[in-house]
Amino acid sequence: MTELPVPALSLVALVGISGAGKSTFAGRHFAPSQVLSSDAFRAMVADDETDQSASAAAFDALYYVAGKRLAAGRLTVVDATHVQEHARSSLVALARAHDVLPAAIVLDLPEDEAWARTEARPDRSFGRAVLARQSRDLRRTLKRLNREGFRTVHVLRGREEIEAATIRLQP
Ligand code: GTP
Ligand code: MG
Repeated sequence: MTELPVPALSLVALVGISGAGKSTFAGRHFAPSQVLSSDAFRAMVADDETDQSASAAAFDALYYVAGKRLAAGRLTVVDATHVQEHARSSLVALARAHDVLPAAIVLDLPEDEAWARTEARPDRSFGRAVLARQSRDLRRTLKRLNREGFRTVHVLRGREEIEAATIRLQP
C-alpha cells in the first residue's frame, strides 16, 4: 500500500488517458461531492457526457463550481484527462486565484490495457487513434507537471500501483 500525501486544501487534477481508471479512483478515494467530472458537466450542459463539442461550456461550468468550493475551503478533485496543456494551466490558474495548492495524481496505465478496458465499455466509442494521441500527450505531460506549477505530483505507474494507492490528507 502506498499512501499519497495530499494537502487537505488543494485542487486535485486526476491525470490519465481514457480508461486509465480516473473515475474509478476518484470514487474509491474521495466523496462523490468532492469530485467534479468533465463527463458529468458535459451531460449537464449537453445531455451527452461524450459530446466533445460541449467541452468548453462544460469546463466553464465545472470551474465555476470548483471556484465556489475552493472559496469555501473545500478540497476539490477534477476528474478529466488533463493531458492537454491548456486544461492543466486553467486548473493551476484557478487554484492560484483561490490561494490553494494545485496537485496532480497521474494514473499511468499502459495504452494497451486502457484500450482493452475501453473496448469493453458500452459508454465509449472513440477509436484507437484518439487513445494513442492521449498517450503521446501524457508522455509530454509527465515531463512538464512540476514546471507548470503543480506543487504535489504523484505518478502511479501500472495497474498494481494504481490499485494499491491510498490518499492521506495533510492538514
Ligand atoms: P475516461 O472517463 O474515459 O477518461 O476513463 P477513466 O480514466 O475515468 O476510467 P474508468 O475509471 O471509467 O475505468 C475504465 C474501466 O477500467 C472501467 O470499466 C473499470 O471497470 C476499469 N477499471 C478502472 N480502474 C480499475 C482498477 O483499478 N483495476 C481494474 N482491474 N479495473 C479498473
Ligand atoms: Mg472517467
